[in-house]
Amino acid sequence: MKKPFHSLVSTIFAITVSIIYLSPFSLLEANPVGFSVDLIHRDSPSSPLYNSSLSHFERVSSALYRSTNRVKYYTRACTTPRSAFSDVISDGGEYLMKITIGTPPVSILAIADTGSDLIWTQCMPCLDCYKQKAPFFNPTSSSTYKEAPCDSRACQTLGGTFCSDGICQYMASYGDGSSSQGILATETVTLSSTTRRPMSLPKIIFGCGYVNDGSFSENESGIIGLGGGPLSLISQLRSSIGDKFSYCLVPFSSHNTKSSQMNFGQNAIVSGNRVVSTPITRKFPNTFYFLTLEGFSVGRQRLEFYNSSSSPNAFGNIIIDSGTTLTYLPSNFYSRLESAVRSAIKEEPIDDPQKILDLCYKVSNEISFPIITAHFTGADVKLSHLNTFIETSSDVACFAFAPADNIGIFGNVAQMNFLVGYDLRKRIVSFKPMDCSRE
Ligand SMILES: *[C@@H]1O[C@H](CO)[C@@H](O)[C@H](O)[C@H]1NC(C)=O
Ligand SMILES: *[C@@H]1O[C@H](CO)[C@@H](O)[C@H](O)[C@H]1NC(C)=O
Ligand SMILES: *[C@@H]1O[C@H](CO)[C@@H](O)[C@H](O)[C@H]1NC(C)=O
Repeated sequence: MKKPFHSLVSTIFAITVSIIYLSPFSLLEANPVGFSVDLIHRDSPSSPLYNSSLSHFERVSSALYRSTNRVKYYTRACTTPRSAFSDVISDGGEYLMKITIGTPPVSILAIADTGSDLIWTQCMPCLDCYKQKAPFFNPTSSSTYKEAPCDSRACQTLGGTFCSDGICQYMASYGDGSSSQGILATETVTLSSTTRRPMSLPKIIFGCGYVNDGSFSENESGIIGLGGGPLSLISQLRSSIGDKFSYCLVPFSSHNTKSSQMNFGQNAIVSGNRVVSTPITRKFPNTFYFLTLEGFSVGRQRLEFYNSSSSPNAFGNIIIDSGTTLTYLPSNFYSRLESAVRSAIKEEPIDDPQKILDLCYKVSNEISFPIITAHFTGADVKLSHLNTFIETSSDVACFAFAPADNIGIFGNVAQMNFLVGYDLRKRIVSFKPMDCSRE
């Protein structure tokens, strides 16, 4: 099995158990701005992680392996007691975003991760860093760099336990033995917008890493946490973006033609016909965006997630995540859904040539895939076969759902060709069908 491409830090967001929101910064609070950035799928040609010697289907199968690893992260994160939560690590996810930090600005390409919070990059003087192609960020050549004191709110959000000479230190350890340590600091972060001039964001809290050792790629310089916890980029921008962001993920087959987009503030408003919305549930850990899935319909047959008498944890039973490829359901519900899908398709299933997924078909036959509708509370999201079946070779398509231990994750394949909007003030996620490779 392929090793996870890299592992990432989440000790920091992990410790943030309380719902303290850091006070907003000197941005235009009354007048939220709008801007949009490219979200680059790691396996698309515009990504530096793109390996041109792999075939399309080899890339698909490594995305499936990464997905399997990521669900382990979520399972651990959601079952670990709060006190031990700091050991849980994220594997980063599937999309990259370009940002610049400092004054003058230094460009970094980092993983955009809706499953973690901290923004983090390798810094000079690196004591022990992993190999990185792009230059390290050098805080001494930036006029806007400022270390976070131990008594700062940012440091206390981390638990305030790592303190040296009055400066806030972060320290993160990885499941695979690697680790990252550094200083918590504030910096000006600039996002280059596809719709306006670059957006400059002062005093963004980030980790300046001096000891970073692990299975990272030389082509990525860090992580941009987009989770719901207080240190994520989203939470730090809260009022200046009106607590809104959205994304439109292009299908695998359109990676060559267009990047996915992430929108903030005014650009992130999801409105018009065919918009459906569902509440976000507050749950531990607050990094994750928990929704409530009542069931699925396969064609006209409706399957409830829980049978009404036994729904102890129904609220927030599924996490929506852009960094997980497949959609995961607790195994018991998965089995019921899978057999409904199986009986809705006339053709005989075949074994997955990659041996990853459970329900596969030869697509050389004219298969008519059933429409599967996800019934979130208040929002029926009609998934097309592009959202529910993934081609794992030129003539095989497999059901893009998988079983997991007591956890639900609504993954990125299921979200492709939807504009997915998060309004953290109203605490809702909205879906609108959209051709993401055109818009
Ligand atoms: C990093 O990017 C370069 C192209 O910029 C590519 O040749 C190289 O294979 C990439 N390395 C990895 C580990 O993806
Ligand atoms: C690209 O894929 C080939 C074939 O699997 C592999 O040998 C090579 O190491 C990969 N390159 C990178 C930079 O990951
Ligand atoms: C729910 O009820 C259906 C039909 O009554 C049954 O087939 C299914 O096994 C039940 N599921 C669970 C999780 O109890």
